[in-house]
Amino acid sequence: MSSRGEVDLERLDTAMEPGSPGWADFVATSALIDDVYAELEGDRGMTRTPEQRRIAWRKRDIHEITVWMARLRGEVGGYAFHRRPLHDGARESWLFLGVRPDARRQRVGSALLDRVVDEARRADSTTLQSFVMSPLVGGGELVPVEGGNGGVPARAPSTGFALARGSRLVQALVGSTVEVPLPADRLEALQRALPASSRDYDVVTWEMPTPSELVADVAALKTRMATDAPAGGTAAGPDPWDPARLVEAERGLTSMGRRRLYAAARHRATGRLVAFTEIDPPLVDSAPASQEFTLVLREHRGHGLGLLVKIANARHLAKASPGTTRLKTYNADENAPMRRINDALGYRPSVVSGCWRLDL
Ligand SMILES: CC(C)(COP(=O)(O)OP(=O)(O)OC[C@H]1O[C@@H](n2cnc3c(N)ncnc32)[C@H](O)[C@@H]1OP(=O)(O)O)[C@@H](O)C(=O)NCCC(=O)NCCS
Repeated sequence: MSSRGEVDLERLDTAMEPGSPGWADFVATSALIDDVYAELEGDRGMTRTPEQRRIAWRKRDIHEITVWMARLRGEVGGYAFHRRPLHDGARESWLFLGVRPDARRQRVGSALLDRVVDEARRADSTTLQSFVMSPLVGGGELVPVEGGNGGVPARAPSTGFALARGSRLVQALVGSTVEVPLPADRLEALQRALPASSRDYDVVTWEMPTPSELVADVAALKTRMATDAPAGGTAAGPDPWDPARLVEAERGLTSMGRRRLYAAARHRATGRLVAFTEIDPPLVDSAPASQEFTLVLREHRGHGLGLLVKIANARHLAKASPGTTRLKTYNADENAPMRRINDALGYRPSVVSGCWRLDL
């Protein structure tokens, strides 16, 4: 434990057994993370039980996770989540930190950030990056992305904090939501308007766990997310997926009670999957489902496959999770093709997410 004024920083034992000494702190930290996400996202889509977080934070070969807890006058007043990929050559650290609203502007955030910067430097990370959401309400001044598209609200606490610490805004994502199920006539009209060349591909849908005959193709598609999707000015190196990593990741999600619905396009001539999209039904009843990765391999773009797989997965969601009423997605502001697809499906922007980059 270390002290900075009244703030004590403690490393949380992320592998702690439920009910063991210290579990109350784990529960309080998890609840604070839920509340900060709800404040920033405007919904409970990121709410997790402490047991689910324990699974998400379990020790794995692909990254190292540390969670710091700030204790202020005896109570959990803030947290910092630090993730560092461990594959060869990875030098980027990722951060998410939050401070209880009544404990803000008392240097709790600064103390947590100092600790993570120190930890990242010691691990030879060269950048510390953070995606931070802000609700899009009532307009207001935007701080622009450095040399890029979009911006984040100037009055968001994260903006003042990040700028005060010398971070640079290197990418903006737009978070949009649509009511589901999507009207069948809208989906049919969009499908009819797809280019004729989209018929060289078959649609395949399935629910996690991915069938073994598709695992290698899905791992290859996920690997291409790091290189084929727009990354703005973020420091994002390769993120290799192999079949074992996919199987293990899906096993972890399943043990948290999560579900994942897939739709993919199979190129008839080669039999390979060349485009895919994922939707996670919500864990909390009132929360939106989450649109996760979508990718069309570069060499198969121009055939309407992004929309083809999204139409298929919208129908899949309606069948597999009939109680879900909203679907939420994030897209890079500069990703015009994906934003056009989402506009056509009926998504409307509700949140903006900025990537703040601190070079160490
Ligand atoms: C952003 C956040 C972590 C800041 O934590 P904090 O403990 O209040 O920050 P600090 O007290 O250490 O602030 C340090 C400096 O950052 C700047 N700052 C912090 N909050 C600010 C705000 N709301 N508006 C403008 N500047 C702000 C100021 O320069 C401040 O120094 P000062 O108080 O002497 O003027 C906190 O507001 C929060 O949890 N917000 C929601 C979660 C979030 O946005 N996380 C993103 C960070 S990854």
